[in-house]
Amino acid sequence: MTDCNTVAFVSGANRGLGAQFVARLLARGAGKVYAASRTGNVNIDDPRVIPVTLDIADDESATHAARVAGDTTLLINNAGVNRKSAFFSPSAIEDARAEMDVNYFGTLRMARAFAPALIRQRGAMVNMLSILARVSLPAMGSLCASKAAELRLSESLRAELAPQGVRVFAALPGAIDTDMSRDFEGPKLDPFAVADAVPDALAESAHEIYIGAMAQELARGLSLERVATQAQLLSTS
Ligand SMILES: NC(=O)c1ccc[n+]([C@@H]2O[C@H](COP(=O)([O-])OP(=O)(O)OC[C@H]3O[C@@H](n4cnc5c(N)ncnc54)[C@H](OP(=O)(O)O)[C@@H]3O)[C@@H](O)[C@H]2O)c1
Repeated sequence: MTDCNTVAFVSGANRGLGAQFVARLLARGAGKVYAASRTGNVNIDDPRVIPVTLDIADDESATHAARVAGDTTLLINNAGVNRKSAFFSPSAIEDARAEMDVNYFGTLRMARAFAPALIRQRGAMVNMLSILARVSLPAMGSLCASKAAELRLSESLRAELAPQGVRVFAALPGAIDTDMSRDFEGPKLDPFAVADAVPDALAESAHEIYIGAMAQELARGLSLERVATQAQLLSTS
């Protein structure tokens, strides 16, 4: 659901899925889109776009962004990292810290900074997770752990903010065709389609948005037979 009253804020808007979110929200008629990136530069020429400099790993940066964008009605916590690190790789601890700091603490920072604006506007927050929040892929075990933490975070934020009229969604897509999945050889979702699926889902009642056949099949399997579904994924990965 997007119209001229929608004031969206998208993190990681300079490339990949974030750039598609900005483009699709504009195409769907959003009144204003804050496009946030670490450099403050985004490559979209539209008077409705307001570039914002934001590092979600930095408290002050998140607080400043929320001050600049105090009229936000839809916060899309899209920025994320995947160090593609297994737990026994030489850099496992450093990778896990970086992933937790951006994927988990970054989303927590943004939620805390933007909560007053979202409460004022009775708005919505979408956290971009991954189906890997629900299953483990050992080749990127610490990414899975950080996204699982972000899923628990999203559930608690939903419960805390619901009485104040703010809806919190968790988006769980399969692999998407961006830089992050450059080396993945399996089927990948078109970022354009993912960026459309999220605003479509805001009109629905489900708070977990499974995007793409792979994520939807895994979610179905997990709801029926969690252990067997996880074992099957491990045997094919
Ligand atoms: N690609 C996939 O297969 C896939 C699958 C499921 C879920 N996701 C999730 O979808 C989201 C978008 O991923 P993507 O595929 O578009 O990845 P991407 O192409 O690697 O882009 C990641 C974006 O996040 C930004 N970012 C990273 N750390 C940041 C920080 N500390 N502060 C602010 N921005 C930061 C990056 O900015 P810089 O340009 O400055 O690095 C970039 O704009 C992520 O949350 C990812 O986990 C992706």
